[in-house]
Amino acid sequence: MDAFAVGATLVLLVLSVLHQEVHGGLVGSDIDGCDVSQGNWVFDDSYPLYAAPSCPFLEKVFDCVKNGRPDRDYLKYRWQPSACSLPRFNGSRLLTELRGKSVMFIGDSLSLNQWQSLTCMLYTSVPEAKYTSVRTGGLSTFTFPEYNVKLLFSRNALIVNIVRTPDGRILKLDSISTQDDKLWSGVDVLIFNTWHWWVHTGRKQPWNFIQVGNETYKDMDRLVAYEKALHTWATWVDSNVDSNKTKVFFQGVSPDHSNGREWGDPQANNCSAQSEPLPGPNYPGEAHPAEKVVEKVLRTMSKPVHLLNVTTLSQLRKDGHPSVYGLGGHRGLDCTHWCLAGVPDTWNVLLYAALTQN
Ligand SMILES: *[C@@H]1O[C@H](CO)[C@@H](O)[C@H](O)[C@H]1NC(C)=O
Ligand SMILES: *[C@@H]1O[C@H](CO)[C@@H](O)[C@H](O)[C@H]1NC(C)=O
Ligand SMILES: *[C@@H]1O[C@H](CO)[C@@H](O)[C@H](O)[C@H]1NC(C)=O
Ligand SMILES: *[C@@H]1O[C@H](CO)[C@@H](O)[C@H](O)[C@H]1NC(C)=O
Ligand SMILES: *[C@@H]1O[C@H](CO)[C@@H](O)[C@H](O)[C@H]1NC(C)=O
Repeated sequence: MDAFAVGATLVLLVLSVLHQEVHGGLVGSDIDGCDVSQGNWVFDDSYPLYAAPSCPFLEKVFDCVKNGRPDRDYLKYRWQPSACSLPRFNGSRLLTELRGKSVMFIGDSLSLNQWQSLTCMLYTSVPEAKYTSVRTGGLSTFTFPEYNVKLLFSRNALIVNIVRTPDGRILKLDSISTQDDKLWSGVDVLIFNTWHWWVHTGRKQPWNFIQVGNETYKDMDRLVAYEKALHTWATWVDSNVDSNKTKVFFQGVSPDHSNGREWGDPQANNCSAQSEPLPGPNYPGEAHPAEKVVEKVLRTMSKPVHLLNVTTLSQLRKDGHPSVYGLGGHRGLDCTHWCLAGVPDTWNVLLYAALTQN
């Protein structure tokens, strides 16, 4: 390369860095230039990061050991990025960093899964710290009073507004409820997630009609509806978030394991009997269609949103679900949620890395 080419390359590099800072949009899972979403699971005897019994507030549906799961190896895997190492989770450091702040998980039961994991990780690293845990309707608040840190979980499966009318429940793809607008405003760390309820039909479908503007639909392509809703959410973030105060995350799509053909085991039609992760960095199945929508929408945004890119690393963990050891909480055989301790602990290590990075 001649001097001009080197100069031009440098200018381009500087411009692309500026572009990232000024225009925001999707912030990937890079730590000092290393993509931590690329890697594989390694057996590590120092795992898990906490023992479920030392976490008195852990919900029974996630406590697979207590519910009789006989194998234990699934507790012992650590995510190893290919090009670097993740920092070791240090709960007292995170609480110090978050002093005086609030962190809110907003979404479905996969958000509950990650919120429970984070409260357990923090509590077991500072077991002498006092805590309070209060639930009011769909809002759970876990507090460490000595640090003045609040960790909240707001159950909100679809993120956009659902309005009850005499004719039925209307899912408004272009509206955020004023109640949610108020709830999210001023929170220091927001971690959104939605996907799983978008696919339900019949009795489990949480709406009767879908509305966009003045148009009402009986149904529509679910990925299209999902994308419209994410754009509504993205517009809320772009118009309401002060990025100097608030960090916004999107918890990537968490995969199910109910079709063994995806992971090269056509016999399996569920996750039971799976006791090991897939080896290596690649999931044999296709990229998750919802995750592609998430990435597409995040790229259009003007405010920075950090993607917790958990989809592939979780796809490799066909062994991580409660299966029949969720105590029948989820249709008897749960290949959607994750045992705790378990995979969501790694999602929180990614969150930790992003929050403690300078
Ligand atoms: C998320 O991680 C997967 C697997 O490493 C990767 O292929 C994909 O490009 C990542 N997405 C983003 C937006 O970084
Ligand atoms: C955790 O972080 C604190 C600082 O907040 C430090 O004093 C302590 O040594 C760290 N613990 C470990 C095990 O690194
Ligand atoms: C929706 O309907 C209202 C009342 O009928 C009308 O005033 C408004 O212009 C319509 N909006 C759009 C976007 O068509
Ligand atoms: C955010 O901080 C930067 C740098 O301190 C400042 O230039 C900018 O005006 C701030 N933005 C807002 C919305 O306060
Ligand atoms: C789940 O998978 C196991 C082992 O592959 C199989 O024996 C069982 O019948 C499956 N259960 C359901 C409900 O499909």
